[in-house]
Amino acid sequence: MISVKEAASRIDKLRDEINFHNQQYHVYDEPRIPDSEYDRLMLELQSLESDFPDLITPESPTQRVGGAPLEGFDTVKHRLPMLSLDNAFNAAELEDFDRRVRERLELADDESIAYVAEPKLDGLAVNLRYEQGRLVLAATRGDGASGEDVTSNVRTISAIPLRLLGTDYPAVLEVRGEVFMPKAGFEKLNERARKADGKTFVNPRNAAAGSLRQLDPRITTTRPLTFYCYGFGEIDPAPIGETQSDSILRLRQWGLPVSPELQVVQGAQGCIDYYEKIAVRRDGLEYDIDGVVYKVDRLSRQKTLGFVSRAPRWAIAYKFPAQSADGVRKPIRVSGGAHRCECGGSSAACFVGGVTVSNATLHNMDEGRTQDAGDDTVFVRRSGDVFRGRACSRWYPAVTRKVALPANCPVYPVRIAPARHHESTV
Ligand code: IVH
Repeated sequence: MISVKEAASRIDKLRDEINFHNQQYHVYDEPRIPDSEYDRLMLELQSLESDFPDLITPESPTQRVGGAPLEGFDTVKHRLPMLSLDNAFNAAELEDFDRRVRERLELADDESIAYVAEPKLDGLAVNLRYEQGRLVLAATRGDGASGEDVTSNVRTISAIPLRLLGTDYPAVLEVRGEVFMPKAGFEKLNERARKADGKTFVNPRNAAAGSLRQLDPRITTTRPLTFYCYGFGEIDPAPIGETQSDSILRLRQWGLPVSPELQVVQGAQGCIDYYEKIAVRRDGLEYDIDGVVYKVDRLSRQKTLGFVSRAPRWAIAYKFPAQSADGVRKPIRVSGGAHRCECGGSSAACFVGGVTVSNATLHNMDEGRTQDAGDDTVFVRRSGDVFRGRACSRWYPAVTRKVALPANCPVYPVRIAPARHHESTV
C-alpha cells in the first residue's frame, strides 16, 4: 500500500485531471479523452479514496451524490433578487425596447447599443453560490426574493463544477443560469419511464423541474440535466469585467458552462438578425428554447438603466410564438379520398405557433402507421416557427381511404397524434 502522502498527491492530480476534462467536455465541447479513459480516472480516484477516506473532500468529483433523501427543501433568501424579464413578441416591440434604452441613456442618433444575445432556455433558473471557489449553495428562483435550497440535487449535475478552476475567481461568486434537460435525454428518460411505471413527462422543461425538485438526489443523478450560465448575483470583490459578455466569458475559464450561441450584436437590427437565424435553427438545437434574450452589454449602462418592479430595463426576451397547443385535444372531422385527406372541421380551430389553425391540412405520411380514420381526435402541434403565420394549403397524395395519421406535415410543421374520440367521416 502506498503512503498517505503519495495517495494525497495522486488524489490531487486525479481531481485536477478530471476537472480539466469536465471543462473540456461541458464548457468547450471538446473532449480530449474517450469516455473509457475518463471512467478509468474516476475509478482510480474512487479506489484511492476508499483506501484513504480521510482524504475525501466534499468537492471531490466522486462526491456528487451524498447523504440520505431530504425531508423537504429549505427556503433561501437571495442576497440579490432574481429578476424576471419583459417580453417582446415582434420586431416592432424589440425596436421600441431599443429606442427606450437609447433615450434613457441619452445616446446620439448615430450611436448604436451593443447587446449580448443568447437563446432563452426552457428550464429553471438557479443561483449558484461559490465561496473561495467552492459550491456552497444552489437555490431555485422561487418568487425572486427567495427560493428553495436544491444544493444536493445541483451537485449531481456534472456540468456544474463543485470547485472552480484556476485561482483568480472572486472570494464570493454567485452565478445565475438555467438548469435544463436536452431533448435527447428527455426522450430517453421517457422511454425508460414507459418501460418501468409508465409515468412520463410532458416536455423537457417539466422533466427538468421534476428532477430538480426531487427529494432524493440519487434519483436526480440519473436525470440528464445540464446547465448554462447567463447572469450574476453577488460578486465580491466586484466587478469581474466591464461588460456582460466579458464577465460571462470569464466564467468559462473557471469551468462554468456558457451557451455557445452567445453573441454580441449591434442595435435593434443586430438583435432581429440573430433572432431570425436562431429561429431557423431552433428545431435542430439539442435543447428547447422559447425565444432570445438580449442584454445591454456595458455594465455601467445596465446600472444607469436599473430596473422597474421585477424586470431590468436593460434586458428583454423576444419570444417565439407559442409553439404548441399541447394538451388541447380537438375533436375534428376527417374526410378524404384516394389521393388526399383533410383533417379539419368546425371545432378544430386552435391557436398554434402564433396562428389560428382552423383547418389543418395534413400530409398522408407514414404508410406503416395507417390508422382507421373512424377513430380520431387529432392533436395538432406546430414544431417550428420558420413557417410563422403561413397556413398550409397544399394537398398531398394519400395512400388509402383510411386516414394514416402523419407524424409531421413537411410543409406546415404540425404534428398529429392518434386520438380517441371521433367525429369523422371518411
Ligand atoms: S436573464 C435579469 N437569460 O427566463 C435577467 N434568462 O423570463 C434575468 N431564461 O427567470 C434572466 N434563458 O429562467 C436570462 N439566456 C437567458 C435565459 C433566461 C432562460 C429564463 C430564466 C428567467 C426567465 C425570465
